[in-house]
Amino acid sequence: MDWNDRFAASTVGRPGPPSVLVGREDLVPTSGRALDVACGRGTVAVWLAARGLAVDAVDAAPAGLALGRELAGAEGVSVRWIEADLDDGLPVTVSGRYDVLVCQRFRDPLLYPTFAGLLTPGGLLVMTVLSTVGDTGGRFRAAPGELRAAFDHLDVLVDEEADGEAHLVARLR
Ligand SMILES: C[S@@+](CC[C@H](N)C(=O)[O-])C[C@H]1O[C@@H](n2cnc3c(N)ncnc32)[C@H](O)[C@@H]1O
Repeated sequence: MDWNDRFAASTVGRPGPPSVLVGREDLVPTSGRALDVACGRGTVAVWLAARGLAVDAVDAAPAGLALGRELAGAEGVSVRWIEADLDDGLPVTVSGRYDVLVCQRFRDPLLYPTFAGLLTPGGLLVMTVLSTVGDTGGRFRAAPGELRAAFDHLDVLVDEEADGEAHLVARLR
């Protein structure tokens, strides 16, 4: 089943921070711009908007974006939902710099340099990808240290890999 079919069979979620920021929510500013890459059904995007950020949220699955729109309406916040296939890179409608960039549970190492280039000075990068660490492996999973190696030129605040996931939180200097 592809992602759009999954979302079509799913329900509206609840706003919430990226999982690596649970208990670390204060790292996220309460104003500025945020980008959620591969936003799914928009629970993180809506949380960011409710926190006070102007949010752009990108995903290829229209059914996910529709659930995000519904959640944003219910929460009384606005998000710019952008339908795009990230295999073609970030869409041209994603422009300027962002104070927060979240990419949670979507992995495309080709986009890593673009992500760093989209951050404002001091901007926060929040990444979670599937990892081979603590898992049996597979071609969609990051090798140990992949995120750290890609973003070592940023100030790394959190670098955790366990149980099949890798998390990185970092700031552009
Ligand atoms: C595991 S879900 C993660 C969703 C969300 N970030 C979260 O943490 O709840 C993966 C997401 O990546 C999106 N996705 C997968 N391939 C994509 C592509 N080529 N372009 C855009 N989005 C894609 C799917 O539609 C899905 O929403």
